[in-house]
Amino acid sequence: MTERAPEALKGEDWAGEMGARWLASLDRFEGMIAPIGAALLARAAYTPGERVLDLGCGGGATTLAIAELVGPQGAALGLDVAPMLIERARQRAAGAGSSARFVCADAATASLETPPFDRLFSRFGSMFFEAPVPAFTNLKAMLKPGARIDLAVWANPRNNLWMMEVMGVVRRHVEIAPAVPRAPGPFAFEDLTYLEEVLTSAGFIGMDVLPYEGRQPVGGPGASPVAATDFVLTSMAVGRVLDEAGAAVRDAARADLVDLFTARYVEGEGVMLGCKAWLVSAHA
Ligand SMILES: C[S@@+](CC[C@H](N)C(=O)[O-])C[C@H]1O[C@@H](n2cnc3c(N)ncnc32)[C@H](O)[C@@H]1O
Repeated sequence: MTERAPEALKGEDWAGEMGARWLASLDRFEGMIAPIGAALLARAAYTPGERVLDLGCGGGATTLAIAELVGPQGAALGLDVAPMLIERARQRAAGAGSSARFVCADAATASLETPPFDRLFSRFGSMFFEAPVPAFTNLKAMLKPGARIDLAVWANPRNNLWMMEVMGVVRRHVEIAPAVPRAPGPFAFEDLTYLEEVLTSAGFIGMDVLPYEGRQPVGGPGASPVAATDFVLTSMAVGRVLDEAGAAVRDAARADLVDLFTARYVEGEGVMLGCKAWLVSAHA
């Protein structure tokens, strides 16, 4: 353990550092959460002709999938605050001949010059607003009355071993301040009562939740314990804390993570750790 003061995991700078981390490991991140995206798409059940807004679309994998489902009479628009991710999404769409379109803007304040949407979708792109109620109020203004929203948000970290186990190891080497409940970040909406308060205050009604539980490959399908550990250190926000703690601390934490993954979590598809998300729907 170092003598440093407890680190707080800083807010995630998606237009800067975190967007760059996500882009650098885009395939691995998307590989980890692909089954949750598939479950959310299945629940949303888009039909040809619908106009769908993909909130926090990242590299656009789900936007491209939605464009296929809604067809040429519909529309799939990805909205994201990270310029580097929107650039990659546009490249992918061009390469795939997809009709998906992309806009780079902060969804909390953006005003789109498009007709209103029938649906809103978001795979883990809705939990990062500093002020969620005004942000969701702004999003509601982009939707037709009655439009359905479908969000995937992470449940409690205790049910997400991919985060708990990593944090457990890192905390053996660096003191990290406890997470602030409801603060912007991956677990902002772990408490469904809070999410319902936010959605209701923003004017949405009829929240309905389907829990998703499974296991996900850390570092993407097929990653070895070493590759999964390198993914954690280079791609997740805790990597920065270890970087700042110096090489000796970082190397010790790295060795512990490799040992943990090797001893307990290697399975056919890679390094598989438990995950739990809420698949949430509501109407404008
Ligand atoms: C965890 S990533 C998920 C990316 C994508 N939905 C996926 O599943 O591959 C979160 C995404 O939300 C975006 N994001 C965060 N805050 C945002 C905001 N205020 N406006 C628009 N996008 C935002 C980030 O840039 C990032 O691409």
